[in-house]
Amino acid sequence: MIVIIDFGSQFNQLIARRVREHNVYCQIEPAGISIDRIKDLEPTGLILSGGPASVYEENSPAVDPAVFELGIPILGICYGMHYMVHQLGGKIKQAKKKEYGFAKLRVNEQDPLFKDMGSEFQCWMSHGDSAIELPQGFEITASTDNCPIAAISNYEKQFFGLQLHPEVEHSVTGSQMINHFLMDICKCKQDWSMQSFAKQTITQIKETVGSDKVIMGLSGGVDSSVAATLIHKAVSKNLHCIFVDNGLLRKNEKEDLQVSLLDNLDMNISFVDATDLFLNALKDITDPEEKRKIIGRLFIEVFEAEANKIEDAHYLGQGTLYPDIIESKSAFGGPTDIIKSHHNVGGLPEKMKLKLIEPLQLLFKDEVRKLGTELGINDQLIWRQPFPGPGLAIRIMGAVTRERLDVLREADAILLEEIKAAGLYRELWQSFAVLLPVKSVGVMGDKRTFANCVAIRAVTSNDAMTADWAKLPHDLLGKISNRIINEVDYINRVVFDITSKPPGTIEWE
Ligand code: XMP
Repeated sequence: MIVIIDFGSQFNQLIARRVREHNVYCQIEPAGISIDRIKDLEPTGLILSGGPASVYEENSPAVDPAVFELGIPILGICYGMHYMVHQLGGKIKQAKKKEYGFAKLRVNEQDPLFKDMGSEFQCWMSHGDSAIELPQGFEITASTDNCPIAAISNYEKQFFGLQLHPEVEHSVTGSQMINHFLMDICKCKQDWSMQSFAKQTITQIKETVGSDKVIMGLSGGVDSSVAATLIHKAVSKNLHCIFVDNGLLRKNEKEDLQVSLLDNLDMNISFVDATDLFLNALKDITDPEEKRKIIGRLFIEVFEAEANKIEDAHYLGQGTLYPDIIESKSAFGGPTDIIKSHHNVGGLPEKMKLKLIEPLQLLFKDEVRKLGTELGINDQLIWRQPFPGPGLAIRIMGAVTRERLDVLREADAILLEEIKAAGLYRELWQSFAVLLPVKSVGVMGDKRTFANCVAIRAVTSNDAMTADWAKLPHDLLGKISNRIINEVDYINRVVFDITSKPPGTIEWE
């Protein structure tokens, strides 16, 4: 295994992800970890991560310098390299000018980190300080125009330093460098897999929860379903899932979830039908924020009432992923935090005092999908596009009524059916229909119509922070439009949304 020492870089989970991609197990540990603890872990190599500090700053993060006596290979990245140079007797210069972005790296091809990679390639830099004098035994193995010491090696000790960031996607050969460090230098065995992750996580959950009960809200999405499946494998019937039907779901949504989780995986799920409660509260509400607030508040009320029926539950399972907590420093603190309002479920009240179990908190979406497949969850659920908590209420412009919900459900189901038939469903981040608050004139079978308008929204995205409108083929748009107008009563016009995010958002409300 590899230990990654966390010096506070925003990229350190990416380092972990790159290591996992090569099927090597790794663990991120805080810089303050004791040397004895590191020895207990028996790592085959260490990676010192980057970080925003400067080695000369007061209280800059530091790991016990005894790591350099362990006799194992060490790779320092950015701040990690500066720390190594500084500790071993070299010098770091505090930068007047910072270097961000792409740079051309000229490398010593003989160096094991750069083996078989050619002599020049593009990499991604993000640093202020740089090394200006190397400790004894080190040599320069790569440079860029602005950074004469961009990579260093001490072959005898097997210490390596990179000023660039091999873990980010922009460093095209970065993954290869990490591969060389893991395989050629540390001689790691490639025996880590999603299967071993699942096994280990299930054991951990068992140990933490013991004979207590875990409550979990299911949304029908990938993350909560995969998290629930893992927890279920650990505590079996002591997991109590709650699915709140707010009446704002898409066509067949609840039924599909029942087949996937209830029938196939035999989970303990309470389905609470709160349709009337939600729809009554939303009556005549047209303001988007007000809709969201009402739905959020009612969700908590219904969830809490249902959760209170389950005695001896001290844990709350959540499908939080790494990108959800990217800014939270407590990410690696384990299942000890009391619920905070910013969590996914919509902010459960603190008075519930449940301890969190977040088994996916170190994974990225694509890793969660792989894990879900490993756990036997069907493709339909694994590849489901995201769907917002407030559901169709924020896709109906204006007041939400049962009639308008039915109209939108039918139009949306046709759209999804055609997107799937065209083989585009997985490529798109989201694709859905929006019901507009306008009516327009049309003609059908020689008769004048005056009916509703539906907008088609389809976007590509990696993380929903930014999104581009999808360039759907015209034939497909034509087919969707025809079918919606012909098959759904009360709709006589379909338009296509060509707004990116920013300046638009993905959802309309
Ligand atoms: P926007 O519309 O802000 O959406 O571009 C970004 C992503 O978040 C989803 N979304 C939500 N998800 N509860 C959720 O669980 C919500 O209240 C919510 N609002 C938006 C949206 O579908 C998109 O994927």
